[in-house]
Amino acid sequence: MENSYQEIEKVNQMPRIGDIAPDFEAVTTKGKIKFSEFATDKWTVMFSHPADFTPVCTTEMSGFAQRKDEFDAMNTELLGLSIDSIHAHLGWVQNVRQNTGVYFDFPIIADLDMKVSKLYGMLQPNESETAAVRAVFFIDPSKKIRLIMYYPLNVGRNMDEILRALEALQTSDKHKVAMPLDWKRGEKVIVSPPKTLDELNARIEDESLEKVDWYLAKKEI
Ligand code: BEZ
Repeated sequence: MENSYQEIEKVNQMPRIGDIAPDFEAVTTKGKIKFSEFATDKWTVMFSHPADFTPVCTTEMSGFAQRKDEFDAMNTELLGLSIDSIHAHLGWVQNVRQNTGVYFDFPIIADLDMKVSKLYGMLQPNESETAAVRAVFFIDPSKKIRLIMYYPLNVGRNMDEILRALEALQTSDKHKVAMPLDWKRGEKVIVSPPKTLDELNARIEDESLEKVDWYLAKKEI
């Protein structure tokens, strides 16, 4: 007899950090896409929302739209998704634009058959059997999943944190360093701990580092 967790795992393949993002084809507000051919050489932030024409989702989608230039500056494409029809998406985009002047100028997947939602573990039946949760997948240019966020239906995400996490991932890759608690641009980063005695001795000698101890050292970048 299967327990409810096993039943959920059967419908949700739940990709994990480090996996290659599963490929799919989908209809979006900007035309059809094949994910493996989408945003080549760029990062992708793919996010789901529970439903068009709902209040929290409208604030979140507006947040993505209003800060799209910051994603552009970080070589990142936005890709939205919900289990709604393309007509609902078009109507909602138009409605928000008329009401607020904010234009959702990025593709939004119409996942009516729930194919992509299930492929990405966005459908979490104990939260809702018909609406995707608020997921955010950070996918690097090699299509590897690097960070995943899941929020429930009743709590909107934090756009500052989404942008901060993206910048932290990209900065970590570029400088081969790790990012401490609450790291923000301009702050010191963590140097990887030494792996040999020679590296340890060099670390102890290195006066350019801010050291708590040999295993926790920070530097400017
Ligand atoms: C909202 O976006 O406001 C919402 C959507 C689905 C369920 C609950 C809230």
